[in-house]
Amino acid sequence: MRVLGIETSCDETGVAVYDTALGLLGHRLHSQIDLHAAYGGVVPELASRDHIRRLPLLLRETLEATGLVMSDIDAIAYTSGPGLAGALLVGSSVAEALGVALGVPALPVHHLEGHLLSPLLSATPPGFPFVALLVSGGHTQLMRVAGVGDYTLLGETVDDAAGEAFDKTAKLIGLPYPGGPALAGLALEGTPGRFKLPRPMLHSKDFDFSFSGLKTAVLTAASAPGFVESDRADLAAEFQAAAVDVLVAKSMAALKHTGLKQLVVAGGVGANLALRAGLNAAAAKRRAKVFYPEMELCTDNGAMIAFAGAMRLMAGEQAMPSDGRFAVRPRWSLQEITPPKVGVA
Ligand code: KG4
Ligand code: ZN
Repeated sequence: MRVLGIETSCDETGVAVYDTALGLLGHRLHSQIDLHAAYGGVVPELASRDHIRRLPLLLRETLEATGLVMSDIDAIAYTSGPGLAGALLVGSSVAEALGVALGVPALPVHHLEGHLLSPLLSATPPGFPFVALLVSGGHTQLMRVAGVGDYTLLGETVDDAAGEAFDKTAKLIGLPYPGGPALAGLALEGTPGRFKLPRPMLHSKDFDFSFSGLKTAVLTAASAPGFVESDRADLAAEFQAAAVDVLVAKSMAALKHTGLKQLVVAGGVGANLALRAGLNAAAAKRRAKVFYPEMELCTDNGAMIAFAGAMRLMAGEQAMPSDGRFAVRPRWSLQEITPPKVGVA
């Protein structure tokens, strides 16, 4: 079965084809970074318009690259939430229209389920159950994952998401959008510990996080008299170290609590090398293993959506050919997700 995946929830247009027998056949991505950079963040209306412009081209390119034609597609998986409403509408309407035209099912997929399952696409995938650390621009959650759609929330951020904290902190110290990778780059040139930032909720004895205080502490340090341009790298390094310390400690506590030995890291911040180094070292001490998506699949992409749809279909979720009706869900909690509905049309 060949599943076409379409992702348009935010500022990346992603298209992919996943074959349940052969794996990922190909994927194409268009990032809108250049489009939004001048505004310092994502402009929703510009994002929607660009998805409309890019999606048909990416669909054609993906099919050409995989040597397929439209009639080779057996099902379409698309991100129906959470995300920007207008952006979600583009992918959803194209997917459902294609479903009607081809007479195949079009499956709405939860964007975070895509991230969560994306490490299973790697060469050495984990098996269920595992603990998942989901660290994206909009979410920071620790979950116990028992199977597709079987997610138990262990803890989450009470304010900003980890990626959001990276982005806002980057902006505070004058780095360009997208802030996360820029801050990580600057941190490489600095030394953590010269500035002292808090490790929020490190000892809270739960699996929750808080990042907004950290951002405020950065603002305070950066506005202090005597703070000069050359201090920015040390401040960036200390911010990154503080965020990583908390993410690592809580992830290890979640492994201990669940008694599991596999940690899956998903979402854009999972691309952060300091986080990877911290998690790998801490997990090794516990004889646990950390799994990441392939680097290019850490941030938003169509492959994870095609794969999540394919996993649901393989788990027996029944899907009828599209009747063209759909609804997007800009706000959609992962806890509302259920295991595949076997035998229910
Ligand atoms: O998963 P993602 O692509 O989109 C969402 O679903 O949110 O995550 C994007 C987030 C952004 O906040 C971005 O700054 C952050 O991931 N990010 C990073 C790195 N690469 C992406 N944060 C820290 N270090 C990185 N290397
Ligand atoms: Zn994402």
